[in-house]
This record gives sequence, C-alpha cells and structure tokens, in this order.
Amino acid sequence: MSIISKDIQKAVKLLTNEQLVAIPTETVYGLAGNIFSEKAINSIFSTKKRPFFNPLIVHISEVKELENIVTHIPQKAKLLAEAFWPGSMTLVLKKNEKIPDLITAGKDTVAVRIPNHPVTLELLRQLPFPLAAPSANPFGSISPTKPEHVERYFKNDIQQVLDGGSCENGIESTIIGFENDEPIIYRLGALALEDIKAIVGEITIKNKKEQSPDAPGMLARHYAPSTKTFLVDNVAEEIKKHPNKKIGVLVFKTSLKNKNLIEIILSEKGFLQEAASKLYDSLHQLDRLQLDVIITERFPNNGLGKSINDRLQRATFSA
Ligand code: TXA
Ligand code: MG
Repeated sequence: MSIISKDIQKAVKLLTNEQLVAIPTETVYGLAGNIFSEKAINSIFSTKKRPFFNPLIVHISEVKELENIVTHIPQKAKLLAEAFWPGSMTLVLKKNEKIPDLITAGKDTVAVRIPNHPVTLELLRQLPFPLAAPSANPFGSISPTKPEHVERYFKNDIQQVLDGGSCENGIESTIIGFENDEPIIYRLGALALEDIKAIVGEITIKNKKEQSPDAPGMLARHYAPSTKTFLVDNVAEEIKKHPNKKIGVLVFKTSLKNKNLIEIILSEKGFLQEAASKLYDSLHQLDRLQLDVIITERFPNNGLGKSINDRLQRATFSA
C-alpha cells in the first residue's frame, strides 16, 4: 500500500470513530469531522474556539450526494456546480431535515462544496458520510495552507494532519447563496468574479466588511496575524511612519530594494493566482519573525486581486 493510501486508511478510521482529521483541499486545510457525529462537530467548534453561531461547510465528492443534503437546487446553482465542481466554490442551499442544526447554526440553509484535491476526494469516496470542515485555524487567525501551519496550531489537539502538500489556490472558496433562486456572493474567494459572471451573468455581492450576515469570513477582523498589520496603497510612504521599528513588508510584484526591512514579493511576474497561493504562507512567515509591524500592499482590484484585498482588509488595521 502506498504511503498516501495508508494515511487515508488512518483518516477513515479516525473519522469513523468520531475523531477529527485535518484534510488538504485546494483552497486551505480543513478541520474535518463526520457531519452526523455530535461529538465530532462539537470538537470542531471547541478545538477552533469558534462560536456556535457560525455554520460549517459540508464537503462531498459527488454532485448526486446533494440530493441527500438539500431540498431545492436552483437552475443557476446547477450551472455553477457544473462549471466549478470539484473546485473552490461553496453553494448555500435549503437544507433537508437530515442535516443537523449544529452544522448550520440553526439556519434553514446549508453550505456545501466538492473540494478539488485528490487525497481528500479519495478520502470522501471511502467514507459513508460527508465531512464538515472549517478552515483548520483557531477562530480569527490566519488560515493554513501547509500541513505545518496546522501542526503549529493544533499539534496537541488532533491525531492526524493528512498531508496533501501546499494548497494550490491558497485562499478560501467563494461562497454563493440564493435569494429567489438568484445567486448572491456571500464571500469572495478563490474563484475570480469574472469567471462566475461568465456563467450566471451579473451577480450581487454581500461581502461588505460592515455586514456580517453569516459570520466568520464576513467579520471585520478575521484572517489576522498577531503582529500589527497595515494595508496601504503606498508601502514606501507607510514605512516612513514607523521609524526605528522592525518592519516586514508584503508586496505584489515590485521590490522596494530597502535592506532595512524584511520583504516578501508574492509574484515577481505579477500573476494574481501565484500571489493568492502564497498569501497566507507569507503572512505566517512574517508573523513568526517578531516584527513590530507588517505592511501589506493593496492589490489591483480585479480578478483574484479583489479576493486578496478582501482578506488583507480583514487581516489589517488601516484600509
Ligand atoms: O475553502 C473553504 O471554504 C475552506 C475549506 C476547508 O473547504 N473552508 C472554510 O470554512 O473556509 P470556514 O468555516 O472557515 O468558513 C465557512 C464560511 C463561514 O463564513 C460561514 O459563515 C459560511 O461559510 N457559511 C456556512 N454555512 C452557511 C450558511 N448556511 N449560510 C451562509 N453562510 C454559511
Ligand atoms: Mg475560516
């Protein structure tokens, strides 16, 4: 048996015994448990220190499993599922009575997605139940995109981090809900808005900082390093406001060529996809250096740049 399938067997066993396993996805690592185990779901909330009002995403491996989870699939949801699953999109649909209230925080809707990662897809195929999996980080902190990020957070709390390498997309799924069968974006994420519009046309975004309809990804402060972090248009100007400080900077593509600070360039070629995939790991790296401040550069507000800006705004103080 290959190492991977041994690891998957171990995960099957733990999950069947109502334990938690950290799982790789193409967006971020998730902290997974059996959706039908009250014990497992309770330990997801307690391990993450996540408030119970905050619903979880249900992960499945086949579109046909939706029938066992939801009561109604709007036409545009079908089109989106066809276009983007397996992939970085979560659909919020009317739940059926089998889905426990603990998963949905008492709402009549449930969030579902088919992740696009071979290890987790194989794991899901071998399990007779779907997995609830929020990002595998303590509530409010930076999401994990590498196994070691999860280990640093939860080494003593969970028995297995299923290794699937670095997450290819690097930011959370785009969440899409429906009102009167029309799609609405609840959380910007790893899909570019333009690609979604190509499937369903114009779409409303309810993702504003001040709104918090469906909590954590929408809370004003989230995804945050413990170091004081700023988001600015002009990094060089901001640096002048912090004399005699140990400074880390995160820039999109152009080096500041300043030897007095620690700099991470997210994509020298200016690729937004590459920048997104490195975003959280770079914040994790800077956050561990005991700097006085981290200064991050605002991204161009198109494509994945919009999603990156959304995460940076929530991770930082000034906008
Ligand atoms: O990429 C992802 O989505 C990752 C991976 C592990 O799949 N998961 C993730 O989960 O980001 P989490 O728990 O960190 O974020 C889930 C988001 C929250 O903002 C939650 O409020 C929203 O999904 N959500 C869950 N159920 C919902 C519902 N019924 N209605 C509206 N929003 C919901
Ligand atoms: Mg999260």
